Amino acid sequence: MKIAIDGPAASGKGTIAKGLARHFKLPHLDTGLLYRAVGLSMMGRLLAPNLADLAEKEAANLDISQLDETVLGRADVALAAAKVARIPRVRAALRQLQVDFAAQEGGAILDGRDIGSRICPDADVKLFITASPEIRAKRRYAQLTRMGQKADEAQILEQIIARDESDRTNPAGAFYICDDAHLLDTSELDIEGALNAAIAIVNGTVSDGLNA
Ligand code: C5P
Repeated sequence: MKIAIDGPAASGKGTIAKGLARHFKLPHLDTGLLYRAVGLSMMGRLLAPNLADLAEKEAANLDISQLDETVLGRADVALAAAKVARIPRVRAALRQLQVDFAAQEGGAILDGRDIGSRICPDADVKLFITASPEIRAKRRYAQLTRMGQKADEAQILEQIIARDESDRTNPAGAFYICDDAHLLDTSELDIEGALNAAIAIVNGTVSDGLNA
């Protein structure tokens, strides 16, 4: 079973994807980490005139066994990721490894922005996870303070709105809700509620007894 999950920053798609992976015993790839890793490797060089060449090279040499989620989770890395994600050659260089991951025997779950539209248009189930920008900022703020990091909720909200805009208008890979995607708004749901809703959607869509 192949599950494609898309949605804006901090919508809960990563948590839902991890929960679905556990529930259905499927391998999971957070594709945002790929763009974040390329963004991180380009920090300090984001204004280079040959940014596209350099970032393409970093993307082509990316080792997905070396992704450190703690560093990659930083807000400045997210902004660098959104910048390199606008480069078509970077998206092309990262495409094959996502397609290969999705093609594993037994299936896979991928989450990102263009999974349902471009990476796995043939997915058995497509989910589009969303929540209001204010709720997403609150969640990200709570997450950062839980991790002992200093955070400013108003600034997080500003960054989320800016990244939504950059991602939605990305000429290389704008994200949108596919016609065949199930929309799940998690604004009013806690983690358990959101995961249960996602499981119900998957079970309702793929009705051949895959529920673990
Ligand atoms: O999902 P996450 O917030 O980790 O993604 C970081 C950034 O990487 C996004 O803001 C977006 O610019 C980019 N991205 C993308 N396509 C994906 C996954 C992430 O363009 N499939």
